[in-house]
This record gives sequence, C-alpha cells and structure tokens, in this order.
Amino acid sequence: MRVVLKIGGSLIQDEKGNIRVERLAEYAKVILKLRKENTEVLCIIVGGGKTARKYIEAARKLKAVESLCDEIGIRAAQLNAQIMIGALNKEAYPTIPETLQEVAKAAATGKIVLVGGLQPGQSTNAVAALIAERLNVDILINATDVEGVYTKDPKKDPGAKKLSKITVNELQEIINETGFFAGKYKLFDPVALKILERSKIPTWIINGEDPKNVLRIIAGEKIGTLIVY
Ligand code: UTP
Repeated sequence: MRVVLKIGGSLIQDEKGNIRVERLAEYAKVILKLRKENTEVLCIIVGGGKTARKYIEAARKLKAVESLCDEIGIRAAQLNAQIMIGALNKEAYPTIPETLQEVAKAAATGKIVLVGGLQPGQSTNAVAALIAERLNVDILINATDVEGVYTKDPKKDPGAKKLSKITVNELQEIINETGFFAGKYKLFDPVALKILERSKIPTWIINGEDPKNVLRIIAGEKIGTLIVY
C-alpha cells in the first residue's frame, strides 16, 4: 500500500510552541515499522502549528497582506517538516521540496519525503491532497488533534457529533462557516476539497495524538472519519 500522511502542526507543537519531541520520535518509529512491512509512506506533510500562528499574528498586526502571512506560514510548516527529517534520519529525503514537481522527483528516489507548505492561498491539507493525487497513492491519512470530523467544532461545541463518513459537499458546508484567512484554514480548505473531489483519493481523518492510530487505519480498523465520494 502506498500512503501519504499529513501530520497536523498542533500534534507536534504544544500551545506554547514547544516541540513535542517524544511524539515525533513515536511517529518515526511507526513509519519505519510500516516501511519494513511493505507499506510505503511516500510523503509526510507537516503543518505550521503554533509557530505559524505566532508569526502570522505578528505580521498581521504590522498590516502585512494575507499572501505574505501565507508565505510566513509556509516557512513555519517547512521548519516543522525539517525536524522530522532528523527523526527519520537516512530514510528521509535530505531537503524539503518547495514545488509539486520537486516533491515528485524526491519521491522517485524511494526516500520518505518531508514537505511543509507549497504556495499561498491554501493549507497543508491542500498540499497533502495535491501530493496524494500527484503520487497516485492508495490512501491519504490526515492526522489531527480530534477524533475525526464533527458536525460542529468539537472544541467549542459540546453538542458536536463525530461522523464516521462524510461527503465532500458536507465538508464544504462545515468549512464555509470558518472563513478563509492565513493560519485559519481549518480542517480542509477549498483547494484541498476540490482536489479530493476530482481525484477521489480515499482519505481518513484520524486522531494523531496516538501515532499508532496510523497503524490501525492501515490494518483496516474503522477509526476517525472517511471522506466518501
Ligand atoms: P497549516 O494551517 O496547514 O498548519 O499551515 P497548521 O496551522 O499546523 O494546521 P494543521 O493543524 O496542520 O491543520 C500554516 C499556514 O501556512 C500557510 C497558510 O496560511 C496556513 O494557514 N500555508 C501553508 C500556505 O499558504 N500554503 C501552503 O501550501 C501551506
């Protein structure tokens, strides 16, 4: 099985911006275990997390335009991706590709490719969808800090219900409520949804606080939320 994995920035950085080193080490273990068992994690996309939000907030206070804020977020995500190179060591491609073409070239080497952001106007979820499409993988796993997709924001609304399946249109309705600004592309941004819609990549949204959940999904367990087409 060929896989693309997106690791949410909040999973590897806490609210203060500290790096969750142990979790990164656990992810590396899981990925190397899968590799030994012939599940290829071709590419891992890492979110910008607290670092992105901190820098974007500062830039916004200085009246920076949104696309500059996006560029700052891209750099933060690349920085987070770069730490993961350290965790995977010689199994990882040594640098961070900055275009989709560079990602494809890097993946062709057989090394695990770490990626942050690519271009403004989207989130790393769009990056993950684009790469999953480009590499024609069997499954995209989106590891985040909640159990899956909920009817409402589960961190704000106690009545929010977790969905085991969701269509792209339903996801679109949920994100319409959240707006479209740098550092705030929640869940899936419009670019990510358009790409998923056209390429119909089987996509799971799972809780990545336990990196072993990635193993569970690959083993066929029904955790999280599956996007259906
Ligand atoms: P993310 O929003 O994807 O990271 O990227 P996050 O905040 O860690 O979110 P999760 O938890 O991974 O989902 C940070 C910011 O970087 C910019 C956007 O402004 C985004 O909100 N970015 C990222 C881009 O403009 N283009 C990209 O390709 C990636």
